[in-house]
Amino acid sequence: MTNPASTGTSASGPLPILKGFASLRRLAGTYPPGHPMMTQKLKEIDDLVHQHLRIDPTLRIDIIRGDVFLDGVSFGRDDPASAQVVRELSDLGIDSIHIREGVERDELLAMAEFLWQVRDAHTEPVEVQLARRNIRHISLGKIVALDTRWSSRQWPDAPGGTLDPAYAESLLLAQETFEDAAAGKPLDLVTVRDLVQLLIHKVARSSAALGQILAVKMYENLTYCHSVNVAMLSLLLGRQLAFDDLTMAALVEGALLHDIGKTRIPLDIVKKPGALDRRERKLIEAHTTFGAEILIQIDGLRPLTPIVALEHHRGVAGTGYPDLGESVPHLMSQIVSVADIYEALTGARSYQEPTPPEHACLVLARLAGHKLNTHLVKAFVNAITFFPLGCVVRTSRDEIGVVIRTNSADPLHPVLALVDGNHDASHRVDTGARDESGGYERHILETVRPPEGLDVSTFLAA
Ligand SMILES: [Fe+2]
Repeated sequence: MTNPASTGTSASGPLPILKGFASLRRLAGTYPPGHPMMTQKLKEIDDLVHQHLRIDPTLRIDIIRGDVFLDGVSFGRDDPASAQVVRELSDLGIDSIHIREGVERDELLAMAEFLWQVRDAHTEPVEVQLARRNIRHISLGKIVALDTRWSSRQWPDAPGGTLDPAYAESLLLAQETFEDAAAGKPLDLVTVRDLVQLLIHKVARSSAALGQILAVKMYENLTYCHSVNVAMLSLLLGRQLAFDDLTMAALVEGALLHDIGKTRIPLDIVKKPGALDRRERKLIEAHTTFGAEILIQIDGLRPLTPIVALEHHRGVAGTGYPDLGESVPHLMSQIVSVADIYEALTGARSYQEPTPPEHACLVLARLAGHKLNTHLVKAFVNAITFFPLGCVVRTSRDEIGVVIRTNSADPLHPVLALVDGNHDASHRVDTGARDESGGYERHILETVRPPEGLDVSTFLAA
């Protein structure tokens, strides 16, 4: 994982590369191989790609809610031609292109040819099709802003290790609730109420649980885990906004059930590991209206709960889905949108590592104003900080430590438990400490992947 400060970005940004792929894709469908127009276009893309790879070994282009990101930094889609390219790729079901060091010109061409044929090629997973075409340094995928439940070979699909008992219980209750809904049974109101209370009164007070929710998650979320985590993140944001108890309970209930409509989507689409076609994408997007339909029929839920399900993929500028004209989503839906995107980014996916919290905060900042409410993003980042509880980080003294306490007055300098080779964390340091000259003794450089076998929750429980 890279520190955002050190993330290399080519001066030209990702849009020319995407445009290049789009036009090469069209050329590949029009001209025979080796045509001078294709050779010229291929050279242009190759130059752009290698210009970037000289700075950073991986070129990550993601399309998140219609905006193009290069290594997590937004480049928008300002001109109509860029917007058209983004739409074209999104319509093909492709929301991310990751190109790794070692990529050859032939692979770029094979990728363009694949993009031309992809509409007709849904029968086998994308990675198998790419491998057959000898494309080894490029992967295509779909970003989880849709928080789709992806099947995974690489990652487990729920948290492992020792869980805080209240968090474990809440996951169990959420799993029951979602399984009932998937089986077409009505939601059990008592379970939903108990779950909301459990989250507010127990899970929110457990550092170990918060650490497991806030830091990177080395698993791909099943919908019920994602929902519990989004409910907790929404709660932290609600707390920052000084919500009273009743408002908080309404927020947590809405957040918990925001994705309940996923239970109506056929599992083979929800679990499909590769790109989605337009029909499948529309169906996945319908989880918002399905959710509202399910929830509105249940007497006893709070009135905002179906509204949050309906609106949580809508932007503050009236974009997103479902199409509800220019209406601005309810504040509760706006809060859940912030929590939803952070949670999706910091979880693992079948094709990439989880995004570190500091990087996910930057993505939120880039979405602020047009997709997300700027004030809510600020409040959220203030609440969780760049290096939240439970994060494993590397310091400027090359130490590895777990964040065990954040410092609201100095959010970039939390207290760490240093981790040695035996995972003994008896040594604690306050990274806010100053030396004799008044400078910091150490800084945090970046979030790193937790060392194998390290159980972060034990540090937090202590
Ligand atoms: Fe969703």
